[in-house]
Amino acid sequence: PRSIWLSRHGESEFNLHGQIGGDANLSARGELYAEKLPALVRESVGDDRPLTVWTSTLKRTIATARYLPGEYNQLQWKALDELDSGVCDCMTYSEIAEQYPEDFAARDEDKYNYRYRGGESYRDVVIRLEPIIMELERSENILIVTHQAVLRCIYAYFMKKTQEESPWMAVPLHTLIKLTPRAYGTEEKRYDAQI
Ligand code: F6P
Repeated sequence: PRSIWLSRHGESEFNLHGQIGGDANLSARGELYAEKLPALVRESVGDDRPLTVWTSTLKRTIATARYLPGEYNQLQWKALDELDSGVCDCMTYSEIAEQYPEDFAARDEDKYNYRYRGGESYRDVVIRLEPIIMELERSENILIVTHQAVLRCIYAYFMKKTQEESPWMAVPLHTLIKLTPRAYGTEEKRYDAQI
């Protein structure tokens, strides 16, 4: 049966410092994940069929995918870039709470609909992901390396989670998720790279 593989990028320098957004490089641990990803993918695919790899246009997803086999086609989608945090881009959550306390509270109140000043909401991301979802529905053997918020939206779609809960879902770093849609629902397997 057809499956979809999902992964966040390896840990970035911004993840280390608690900063959101940006276009940071991978940290040393993130590099390790990039190095381990080909074996993790091989283990989860189970045979020699090549996958097509979709990344965002940001350095951390491209770097995470760069050791995957050369026969895997790779495609970069702007629509897979992380949720745009507008004026809060590159800040930490405590900096946001200090500089934009009302925004910080509003986001906590309704995380799905909250739109960063000059940026996006989860609802906006779901809309820009529509072409991705359509393409996914008619493709086979796709591995997507993207970002936390984007991954939550794609995951929620296939797992039929409600929009309200998706922004709060745990999507750990350094874990490959394999989703296999079946008649009774989507089957999920997680492969922890143990980094
Ligand atoms: O911290 C990593 C990150 O991908 C940020 O770039 C992004 O803004 C955030 O996670 C999304 O998660 P949340 O919606 O929980 O803030």
